Amino acid sequence: MVARAVVAGCGGYLPETVLTNADLARSVDTSDEWIVQRTGIRERRVAAEGEFTSHLATAAARIALDRAAMLPSELDLIVVATATPDETFPATATRVQDALDMRRGAAFDVQAVCSGFIYALNVADNFIRLGQSEAALVIGAETFSRILDWQDRATCVLFGDGAGAVVLRAEQGEGTAADRGVLSNHLRSDGRHHDLLFVDGGPSSTRTVGHLRMAGRDVFRHAVVNLASVMQEALAANGLTADDIDWVVPHQANLRIIRSTSSKLGMPEEKVIVTVDHHANTSAASIPLALAEAVTDGRIKRGDLCLLEAMGGGFAWGASLVRW
Ligand code: ACO
Repeated sequence: MVARAVVAGCGGYLPETVLTNADLARSVDTSDEWIVQRTGIRERRVAAEGEFTSHLATAAARIALDRAAMLPSELDLIVVATATPDETFPATATRVQDALDMRRGAAFDVQAVCSGFIYALNVADNFIRLGQSEAALVIGAETFSRILDWQDRATCVLFGDGAGAVVLRAEQGEGTAADRGVLSNHLRSDGRHHDLLFVDGGPSSTRTVGHLRMAGRDVFRHAVVNLASVMQEALAANGLTADDIDWVVPHQANLRIIRSTSSKLGMPEEKVIVTVDHHANTSAASIPLALAEAVTDGRIKRGDLCLLEAMGGGFAWGASLVRW
């Protein structure tokens, strides 16, 4: 028998304010037609003044705990994936820990930008496999609206704010792909591509927060190749094929990246969860938000095999196989 990190509950939270493509077309030279055709995005949510990443994270966490029928006092670990922390330090996870009134265990952040949720899931899964954690909260939460250059039409139309969370609980499994829980994680990074996607500021370099900068076409090209490769690696590591997958839950960057990647693997469109049209790219929050939506509407059911994938700045990318 082996320890498995089984998903006990999952929740998502979006700020109230909706920003449509038509709204953006009033402030930059763009159009609904251009954005929809190139990205599939129709609208995104934007956090209110005074609404921080930790607030979104805490709201998503409360829903996930509720669905798991668990109390914060039962948790012994919180890992928050974010590239937009409330402050340079302390970790946003400790803000969430305090807001939940959790008085034990450990809380820290993981920084892998858009692939942050996969990285955080891997970290929490390792804690559980090693017996160091019995119940962990893994959150992806972002307020990218705060690091966008709202005059740059090539980037400001692509991102949105939000948070998603899953509660993981240690359970014993057989050690086969038939087990419930996280089956395997596959992480990659390649620091040579820093200049294609980065924020031009930070406490150590410019002493400012900075703005997101991106060479979109190059990112697109790398994303499709890297994601297809790491997804294939995840399948091969578990002796599975694309036919065994019930749901692909991709990072929601761009509908064309999602479609190109899944078609490379021979995944039919009906098996791919898409939320990019109404969430846009919420970075580390996009996968848990998509999971929460597909679980709530009844598509993802207990026992379903889900293949999660993401790529972002660094580049950092990865995939996880999770039996729900
Ligand atoms: N509205 C209208 N025109 C625009 C806009 C806009 N919002 N943005 C750029 N354009 C213009 C450009 O200025 C350019 O004009 P020009 O030909 O006169 O110079 C033209 O559209 C084409 O620009 P490209 O950047 O070549 O357009 P492309 O077809 O590559 O689409 C896009 C751009 C949507 C960013 C695409 O490259 C993409 O999706 N890349 C992936 C990036 C991504 O998703 N990053 C997220 C983070 S990483 C991740 O999550 C995987």
